[in-house]
Amino acid sequence: MPKPLLCPPALLALDLTGKTIVVTGGNSGIGLATVEQLAKQGAHVVLACRRTADGEREKAALEAKGLRGSVEVMALDLADLASVRAFAASFLATHGALHVLVNNAGVMNTPAGKTKDGFETQFGTNHLGHFLLTELLLDLLKKSAPSRVVNLSSCYHDIAQGRQGKIHFDDLGYEKHAYDGWDAYAQSKLANVLHAKELAERLAGTGVTAVSVHPGWVRTRLMRSSMPLWMQDVVLKPFFRMAGMIEPWEGMQSTLFAVLAPEVERHAGAFFSQVGWYREKSANKGGWPLRSPNPQVHEPGVAKKLDEVSRKLVGLA
Ligand SMILES: NC(=O)c1ccc[n+]([C@@H]2O[C@H](COP(=O)([O-])OP(=O)(O)OC[C@H]3O[C@@H](n4cnc5c(N)ncnc54)[C@H](OP(=O)(O)O)[C@@H]3O)[C@@H](O)[C@H]2O)c1
Repeated sequence: MPKPLLCPPALLALDLTGKTIVVTGGNSGIGLATVEQLAKQGAHVVLACRRTADGEREKAALEAKGLRGSVEVMALDLADLASVRAFAASFLATHGALHVLVNNAGVMNTPAGKTKDGFETQFGTNHLGHFLLTELLLDLLKKSAPSRVVNLSSCYHDIAQGRQGKIHFDDLGYEKHAYDGWDAYAQSKLANVLHAKELAERLAGTGVTAVSVHPGWVRTRLMRSSMPLWMQDVVLKPFFRMAGMIEPWEGMQSTLFAVLAPEVERHAGAFFSQVGWYREKSANKGGWPLRSPNPQVHEPGVAKKLDEVSRKLVGLA
């Protein structure tokens, strides 16, 4: 396995005082590591999460370590559009700027199920919740430019456990064909890539840069629907590490690069990848940026079509 890509140390030493950053799913895994690093660098980081008691506990633990910036916990359940709207309303009422929105939260390979609004769980949570959140915060992002939107996607947007990532425009919610948790994850992560691509086209010239990233195969709680976490964290940990699994501090590097590196502005809409698994083996070593090997990413009109469909589904049409 090639080594995970790491941010140049100078980026991790930048002073972010005065910057306001939202990280969804900031109470766990890659999101939590990201919150810590950005707050250490002086930013005011809003840790947006559905379990606020957990968020408050993590905030206290980070503060005990010492931060140059600050952390604020706010409630956000991406599987409930009313909660997304409430978060945005509350954020806009209390914050005058938003420099970076990190759409990090996610679920993977969940059993068949629906969000509060009746969407398939992974598409609804990973894509539609973030889509609406981004739209509701977009004016403030524009006002705060230069600003960024960073979507946490995955190399699984290309192929997830043998399922080729595809947006099933004719059956987004698996009503007509059998539900498959990996297929639904791949669809939701492909939607994250296409969302960033469409945003980049729409936001050209506004000073808001949107990109997507694959963080690597990271030891977090994401696998909990696929295997007991004690297997990942204890029994299989040494084998997984040898096979390429990395720790959250390594997995946050692509996100941090997308948030902090000046050259990212020249790559609006691009996909930044850690080491991963792709149908084109040459892509496996990753790249900042990397051309996605999934043909649907490059098919003309697909990103725009997803935008139109998503807009209708979340009630913004
Ligand atoms: N770990 C990997 O190998 C890997 C690989 C590729 C991509 N990714 C992506 O990286 C991102 C971060 O995942 P992670 O690996 O750090 O996993 P994680 O430790 O499970 O963190 C996921 C976060 O998302 C939150 N979340 C889930 N559903 C939510 C909802 N309805 N509303 C609000 N927050 C919700 C979780 O909150 P709770 O704590 O309340 O569940 C948690 O904070 C995800 O988008 C994932 O797809 C991860």
